[in-house]
Amino acid sequence: MTGTTRYAFVGTGHRAQLYFDALLGPYADVAEPVALCDTNPTRMAYYQRLRGGEPLPTFAPEEYLAMLDRVRPDGVVVTSVDDTHADYVVAALERGVDVIVEKPLTVDEPSCARIADAARRSTARLVVTFNYRYSPRNSAVKALLLDGVIGTPTAVHFEWVLDTVHGADYFRRWHRDKARSGGLFVHKATHHFDLVNWWLADRPSVVTAHGGLRFYGPGGDHDTDAFVLDLSADVRLHALYADAARHDGYRRDQDVFSPGITIEDTMAALVRYESGALLTYSLTAYGPWEGYRVSITGTRGRIELAVCERSSVPSGRASDVVGWHRDAPDLPEGARPVGTRLLLQRHWEAAEEVPVDAAAGTHGGGDARLLDDLFRPGAAPDPLGRAADYRDGVLSVLVGAAANASLARGGASVLVVPPW
Ligand SMILES: NC(=O)c1ccc[n+]([C@@H]2O[C@H](COP(=O)([O-])OP(=O)(O)OC[C@H]3O[C@@H](n4cnc5c(N)ncnc54)[C@H](O)[C@@H]3O)[C@@H](O)[C@H]2O)c1
Repeated sequence: MTGTTRYAFVGTGHRAQLYFDALLGPYADVAEPVALCDTNPTRMAYYQRLRGGEPLPTFAPEEYLAMLDRVRPDGVVVTSVDDTHADYVVAALERGVDVIVEKPLTVDEPSCARIADAARRSTARLVVTFNYRYSPRNSAVKALLLDGVIGTPTAVHFEWVLDTVHGADYFRRWHRDKARSGGLFVHKATHHFDLVNWWLADRPSVVTAHGGLRFYGPGGDHDTDAFVLDLSADVRLHALYADAARHDGYRRDQDVFSPGITIEDTMAALVRYESGALLTYSLTAYGPWEGYRVSITGTRGRIELAVCERSSVPSGRASDVVGWHRDAPDLPEGARPVGTRLLLQRHWEAAEEVPVDAAAGTHGGGDARLLDDLFRPGAAPDPLGRAADYRDGVLSVLVGAAANASLARGGASVLVVPPW
């Protein structure tokens, strides 16, 4: 194949498939996978089978630099465990290789500084794949704010509820180790802090946070059977993780009530922005339903977004982790139907409902739109500024890292934003 952009994949687990399938399918005319790098040969073999044909060259993590030198990819797609992103990103940028990296860009402040430094000096392009920006409901909020309909935003109230399917899953996997994921203030909230940074077009400056492990971990009084995940019940989970465990001992189906969890499941943060705007943020990981509520108050009115992604979880549905945010077909929606409601209310006026495109697909339809920006950059206009660069990735991680620092020492954390 000639004329295509050649991508090496680093981290060939669950998330890599979004990008891999894209290159084998709708974007095969513009881009192709050319190498795989992972600690686990079984997971790399899974991707070889998906592709078929001549196997791609595979590399262990310690061979990453050799891979860049030998294969000479145009870009790397980094979808490995969060705390491994920084080294891969910096090494690629130093060699002028473009980077597509999953959120979170990294997990702590020192590695943010290293990435910012490498990005400033590099000619290569770095994109952090903040797919939530692309979901139509979140884009609609940005469009309203850009139109100035509520004047200057002054206060944001943002609550995210992860349910006992999706939320629990963070406590089964490597994410339960704060050193690997940065905890949910980094791993999960990076999406939410990025949305607020982007919506407000502002930079966070001071963070105060509280949090704890109140539901998962040992000692609770729970129906533990309802949380058991049977990897063999799903062909893909079995192929990616059960078969692969013999190489590295990694268990994707750990007991969410077992010891060893170092992340929080209940978190609250206050963030002050440079403009003086305030964010009040809450994240819980064991809700009976899943979704989020955001209200943004401005000098001329208020925007309110309410999203329900799954209205309830029947017991024994732990394996729905593979079913994304779908209600089970046999489940009555009750008082909380799945859907989106976006309200705009200007001062002295009645509230009006703002229509939002009903988007199919994962992450509120965000994933499909994101792929276009990644693999056909510039093909469509980007009036909302959805494509995120290293500054956006760094700023959202810095809020989470500052929240973690605040948790650890019980006081406010002032953000040190790298100069750019
Ligand atoms: N934007 C989103 O909505 C979204 C959704 C899911 C995951 N993600 C992100 O994608 C990334 C991967 O998550 P996942 O769900 O695929 O996890 P996963 O556990 O399925 O895959 C991670 C892969 O990284 C590999 N790995 C571990 N250490 C490595 C190392 N040192 N070098 C190279 N590879 C290594 C593992 O073997 C595994 O194959 C994470 O950063 C996560 O935050 C983003």
